[in-house]
Amino acid sequence: MDGVWWQQAKKISSIVKTAGPFMFLQELINQPKFTGAICPSSKKLARQMARHIPLDNDGIVIELGGGTGVITQAILEHGISPDKLYVIEFSPTFARHLKARFPSITVINGNAAHLDTLIPHNAKINAVVSSLPLISLPPDICQQILRQWHTLLKGQGLAIQFTYNLRSPLWKTHIKASQFHSEIVWGNIPPAKVMTFKF
Ligand SMILES: C[S@@+](CC[C@H](N)C(=O)[O-])C[C@H]1O[C@@H](n2cnc3c(N)ncnc32)[C@H](O)[C@@H]1O
Repeated sequence: MDGVWWQQAKKISSIVKTAGPFMFLQELINQPKFTGAICPSSKKLARQMARHIPLDNDGIVIELGGGTGVITQAILEHGISPDKLYVIEFSPTFARHLKARFPSITVINGNAAHLDTLIPHNAKINAVVSSLPLISLPPDICQQILRQWHTLLKGQGLAIQFTYNLRSPLWKTHIKASQFHSEIVWGNIPPAKVMTFKF
């Protein structure tokens, strides 16, 4: 009888550990600067990010910082085919979770600062969808990431990024974009600003 209870307790504990919010909290404690948020994005914010991705472009879509997969799910629901979606995730725990949750997309456990070495050489890029915590990342990593966007997206594709800074985050001063658009999404904790850039 004890054995049955022990098995049930182990099963419940494993479900709780792999549930999105719990996993997020664990990663926030382990890697606060890289996790950069108190909880996963809301579905509303995820949809507002995904809706900017053009559907008439045959390039790949790169998601940076997939976390538990809220935005990944919204990108697929928006109509991006799984074989076109690449997710770059720094945390091995989140990357493992994303691979199990979305077996038909490409999940790469790596650092977005080295994006050019992680995606197929000379890939045509439709969009980069980023929820990286650019505000809290070490400044050198943040600048490397923004340099990658300028190089890889010049003349093609767009970058979509959200921030909790509803004014103008410091990292934005390092972006030289030819087109820029922004909107605030109140249905998120905390409210966020979605920004799109064309280079
Ligand atoms: C604010 S969370 C967003 C998670 C999820 N997309 C969401 O919206 O709920 C930031 C995510 O970026 C990942 N991350 C942080 N720095 C990274 C880097 N340099 N390269 C790749 N992923 C990174 C973190 O591990 C975390 O999953």
